[in-house]
Amino acid sequence: MTKDVTAAPSILFLCLGNICRSPLAEAAARAAFAKAGRPATLDSAGTGDWHVGRPPDPRAQAEALRHGVDISDLRARQIAPDDFRRFDLILAADSENLKNARALAPADATARLRLMLDLVPGRAGESVTDPYYGEDDGFSETWADVSAVAAALVAESASG
Ligand code: 4NP
Repeated sequence: MTKDVTAAPSILFLCLGNICRSPLAEAAARAAFAKAGRPATLDSAGTGDWHVGRPPDPRAQAEALRHGVDISDLRARQIAPDDFRRFDLILAADSENLKNARALAPADATARLRLMLDLVPGRAGESVTDPYYGEDDGFSETWADVSAVAAALVAESASG
C-alpha cells in the first residue's frame, strides 16, 4: 500500500521504561508540531513493562514543564504488536531499544524503525542518553536531544 505523504505523520517514541526519554520525546514533538501548526499523531511506549500505568518520572515532568509542556497525564505502556501497524515510524532512544523492537515486530509490521538521533544531522547512530540513574542535569541533556529530533521531524513533515 502506498502511503499518502501529505497525511499527518504518525510517530511512536520508544525507550525502555516509557517514563523518561520517550515521554520527553513525545512532549518535545507535541510542542514542535503545535508551534508549526502541523497535525501529527504522537505517542510513546517502552520495551519493558516495569513502569506500566505510572506517570512519567517526576524529573522528566519537571523538565517538560520548564519548556511549557505538561506531561503529568501520560501513563507508561509497553509497546504492542499493533503499534508496528498503526504507526508510520517508530523511533527508538537507543540501540538496545531498537534491537528489542526489531525482535518484537510482527511479520506484517509496516512501521519504519529508526534511532531517534538518526534524524539529526551529524548524530546518526547515537543514542539518547538514559538519564534515569544520573543527576538531574541529565534530563536537560535529554530534552536538548529530543528537541533536535522533534525539529527534524517537523522539517521533514513540512518538506513532505
Ligand atoms: P526510560 O528510562 O527508558 O528513558 O524511561 C528508564 C526508566 C526506568 C528504568 C530504566 C530506564 N528502570 O530500570 O527501571
